[in-house]
Amino acid sequence: MSELATVAKAMVARGRGILAADESTGTIEKRFKGINVESTEENRRAYRELLFTPKGLGDHISGVILYDETIRQKSADGTPFPELLARQGILPGIKVDSGTSDLPFCPGEKATEGLDKLARRCQEYVTLGAKFAKWRAVITIGKDIPTTTCIAANAHALGRYAAICQAAGLVPIVEPEVLMDGDHPIERCEEVTEWTLNALYQALYVNRVVLEESVLKPSMVISGKDCAVQARSKEVAERTVRVLRHCVPAAVAGIAFLSGGQGDEQATENLSAMNRMFPGLPWPLTFSYGRALQQPALKAWKGAAANVAQAQALLAHRARMNGLAAMGQYNPELEKKAA
Ligand code: 13P
Repeated sequence: MSELATVAKAMVARGRGILAADESTGTIEKRFKGINVESTEENRRAYRELLFTPKGLGDHISGVILYDETIRQKSADGTPFPELLARQGILPGIKVDSGTSDLPFCPGEKATEGLDKLARRCQEYVTLGAKFAKWRAVITIGKDIPTTTCIAANAHALGRYAAICQAAGLVPIVEPEVLMDGDHPIERCEEVTEWTLNALYQALYVNRVVLEESVLKPSMVISGKDCAVQARSKEVAERTVRVLRHCVPAAVAGIAFLSGGQGDEQATENLSAMNRMFPGLPWPLTFSYGRALQQPALKAWKGAAANVAQAQALLAHRARMNGLAAMGQYNPELEKKAA
């Protein structure tokens, strides 16, 4: 097996998943505002150190996605973050897209930027210890959208990104996020997700991406956030797995879902339902959660060193619950015992 295929397999190893801690400076500022903490470089560093050092984190976390600033930062004792993670058996990864901008002539739609000089940036990230990369595309559901223009532009960028990463020695996580914003029913989400994933795998093929050396990070098929009828986890699992079977080649190393604004226990339950109801799929199904892993820890921390231990316990708990979900063994009763 190639080195990249080995890394990709390790990212989705049984009972383990990915912690997304790659919030851009703007996004982390928003999260810190919610807990009344100023977004200084030192506060961002301290918060990331909290996230990367709970005892036993590596039991359930296979990799952590870092941001450009974070991959260059160090723990209080001077250990570079990538090294701190590697020592715990956790693969360091890096977000390489530079965010979204408005798609011309397509009101309400976005395209992801960051292909310029990407090969050079990937080479630097490899020297800093990165083993994999992430690029997020955003698809919005609304009246008359998504457009073919938006689906094609985003699939093209993901294909180019993935090929550039593999050539530079990084495993690409390809992330086409179909947003949960809106009042659309789950059927519409299923249709748009199917369209998006079909276009994505066509683009990866055209760009000669090696599927065994890649990981898919999709959104789950769920009801729009403002839809009056909210589908339960059994239906979410059935529809999500159906779409994945239709669109994702069996050669892909694994699938690690984003949480996308779902409640943290909901994201855990949905993942567990898929693994419980559909054993024996061609790919492991696991998590690559940002908010659904971090939220309780962030709230407990509040920027105070005195709260670090409590915040770390909460993160370790969510990591353990999601590790169980990745094996279809999550039981909501376990949440009560922890509380
Ligand atoms: P969420 O799980 O909060 O959606 O974040 C995952 C991620 O990496 C988004 O790009």
